[in-house]
Parts: sequence; structure tokens; C-alpha cells
Amino acid sequence: MASIPPVVAAAAATAPETVAERLARLTRPGTLTLAALPPLSLYVHLPWCIRKCPYCDFNSHALRGDLETLPQRRYVDALIVDLEAALPLVWGRRVHTIFLGGGTPSLFDPAEIGRLLAAVRARLPLEPGCEVTLEANPGTFERERFHGYADAGVTRLSIGVQSFDDARLRALGRVHDAAQARAAIEEAKAAFATFNVDLMYALPGQTPVECAADVEAALAFAPPHLSIYQLTIEPNTLFAHARPTLPDDDTAAAMLDRIVAATAAAGLDRYEVSAFARAGHRSRHNVNYWEFGDYLGIGAGAHGKISFAHRIVRQVRLRDPAAYLAGAERGAAVASEVEVARADLAFEFMLNALRLKDGFALARFAQRTGLPLSAIERPLAEAERRGLVERDLQSVRPTPLGFDFLSDLQQLFLPSDN
Ligand SMILES: C[S@@+](CC[C@H](N)C(=O)[O-])C[C@H]1O[C@@H](n2cnc3c(N)ncnc32)[C@H](O)[C@@H]1O
Ligand code: SF4
Repeated sequence: MASIPPVVAAAAATAPETVAERLARLTRPGTLTLAALPPLSLYVHLPWCIRKCPYCDFNSHALRGDLETLPQRRYVDALIVDLEAALPLVWGRRVHTIFLGGGTPSLFDPAEIGRLLAAVRARLPLEPGCEVTLEANPGTFERERFHGYADAGVTRLSIGVQSFDDARLRALGRVHDAAQARAAIEEAKAAFATFNVDLMYALPGQTPVECAADVEAALAFAPPHLSIYQLTIEPNTLFAHARPTLPDDDTAAAMLDRIVAATAAAGLDRYEVSAFARAGHRSRHNVNYWEFGDYLGIGAGAHGKISFAHRIVRQVRLRDPAAYLAGAERGAAVASEVEVARADLAFEFMLNALRLKDGFALARFAQRTGLPLSAIERPLAEAERRGLVERDLQSVRPTPLGFDFLSDLQQLFLPSDN
């Protein structure tokens, strides 16, 4: 996603804006006109983990003590206040999907997750059959816990397995071993009609044969959905300071080729660059992001994107859990709120839409950005000339070459290239 300009509106102003002033500011005429608002999702960030993994740059924080120190009750209360303060921004809209991400949401008791979901349901209308995903770490797994989440209203579990090889899991600093990962998948299968397994590849010291074995081990569970990411070394992580030796680019590319072949042979469709699903089991929440839908983000450091008739706004919540708790409790959880510049909209849309195998309908581009198609005609023609996309009168999709060189393709749509 494009970086968020360091502009702080509303937050920390001297005299706090009233709800009426805020709504007037967000709904006044602007440089855009959106004929209809997109589907709305809800993202909830739960920022604690048992231990910080050395490769992870998510807003996740190791618990200072044992599980008893997790302020789960206070945090759920703060989330509810945060949600209430945000309601005027989404009045009258239905929620299509909910995603409880982290961090490690499975540190929270099913009863607290149930209390949170009940509070959401009491305040926002949910679409019938609303997908509710919870991210789980096999290291927090105990028998019956997943059934507890299902009873609380979670419909889909996303399990962070990463690898089935104990040596690789240790090198990644994971808190679980392969046996715990297998047990967690078995339990998820029993408790949920649909679930996801997260894997990573091109791990320190990993060979293509080991990578293939990991994918086969995951496929043996017949998962309805697999997400497979290449390990990246992110700045400000332990791995960035003590860089492990990773497979070279050619080896990583060969691993990806085998992943694509093995998942296809197992009947999984690579519907997004890193996501593979059986028919009917795509992540509706993530698809909404990739289709440039809206999402309200609550919780420490959560990002949100909300459309209004004449503007699209991005919000970020206070990142530090203690600061978030204090801020949310007084109805001031938002650290920044900025309007997406008209000049950045095409790039932001394409950054997401080109991740999907099926690309996007031309009509959707105009609907979601309020821009005419002429705004992307030049870079689109260039992408087509280079064999990175194909298009017809209705839609545009990345070619296999475009998928392989996705960031080159996306960069064609940067504002300066238009
Ligand atoms: C927030 S984590 C998932 C839930 C849980 N915290 C866990 O790790 O089990 C989301 C996923 O992002 C992926 N991920 C995180 N850091 C990554 C990195 N540096 N490179 C590639 N994938 C990464 C992992 O597959 C991880 O499961
Ligand atoms: S468990 Fe997940 S969120 Fe937590 S530190 Fe590890 S990768 Fe990051």
C-alpha cells in the first residue's frame, strides 16, 4: 500500500471536533464524486504475541509476563469505545466481513472474542453470512479452544503454520513445533467449515526439496485456502540486524514454480499472487481489500479506508498498545486521518487490483475511484505492450508474466508515470 502522508487532521486539535463538525468536513463537496459506496469490512487488530518473531514487522508486541498479563478485558472494552466513536463515519452501511488479526488474536479467550463480536453485532448491521476470520497461532492452541471461537461467531480460522519442519520453525523463532501445527489444523478442520493455512518459503537454509515437502504437508490436510508468502527481510526486525542466509532469487523463483504446480494439482486456484483457494473458499475479507473496498480498522495501529460521496479517507489508530488503550478509552484512538489525493487514487487502486488473477472490471475502477478510465489509459496501454496485462472491453487482468513481475507492473501506475 502507498505510504500515508504525515498529515494529522482532527486528532490532537486544540478544541476537539464535534461529531457534526466532523461529518460536515467529511461529506462536503470535494474533487471526487462516487456514485455508490463500496462494500464495508471491519478489521480489528489484537497486538500481542507470546514472543516477537525475528522477521515480523507487524504491530505486534511480546507479552511482558505470562498470559495473565494480557489485558484482554480492558482491550475489548477499548475496542468497543473505539468502534462507537467511529460509527458516524459508516452510518447505515452493512458489514460484509470481519477480520480479527494480529499479533496473535488466539491469545484472547473465546469468551472475550464472543463479547467483542456481540458488541459489533449490536452496533453495526452484518450482511447475512458475514465472514468472520480469526488469526490463530498453533503455539496458543489447546483442545476445544477453536470450537469456543466458532461458538463465539468466528466462521473462519487462519492458522500461522509457516513450516512443518522443526529446524526451520526454530530458525524463525516460532513458539510452536510441527506437531502443534498439525494438531491445530486438525482441530480447525473439525471446528470450521473453512480455514486458511499460512506458510512462508525461501526460509533460512531451506532447499527446494524441503520447500516442496512443506507444501505437500499442508496439502495433505486438504485445506480450503492456503496463503504462501516469500520470507522478506523487513527493516527494524531482528533479521534485518542479523541477516540470515536466504535462498538466492533463482532458487526462490524455482520454489514458487513448484508451489504453483503443486497447489494447482491439488485443485487450488491461485486467485491472488500469494493466495490459493478451492472454489467457494476465497478470503472474502482480503478480496474486498484487493477490490479497493472500504474497511474500518479498530485496535492498536489499525489502518482503515472509508469512502464518502466526495472523498476517500485513510485512518491509522495509535500504534502503541498502551497509548491506544488510553486514547481509545477517551474516544480518541485515531492518530491520523488523511484524504487520499486524487493524483494517488489510480495507483492505489491498481496496486491492489493487479494482485488478483481476474484483475478488475473497468466499470469498477470508475465506481471505486471516481476517476475516468482515461486516468489509466496510458500506463495500461504500456503494460499491454509489454505483455504484463491483457484486456477486453469489460476488464483488465495481469498475464502470467505480469504476475511474475508484479511490482514492475504496479509501478507503471505511479502518479509521475501518468
Ligand atoms: C500476522 S501474521 C499471522 C498470525 C500469527 N501472528 C502468526 O504469525 O501465526 C500474518 C502472516 O504474515 C506472514 N508474514 C509475516 N511476516 C512476514 C515476512 N517478513 N515475510 C513474509 N511473510 C511474513 C506470515 O505467514 C504470517 O502468518
Ligand atoms: S506470531 Fe505472528 S504477529 Fe506475532 S510476532 Fe510472530 S509473525 Fe508477528
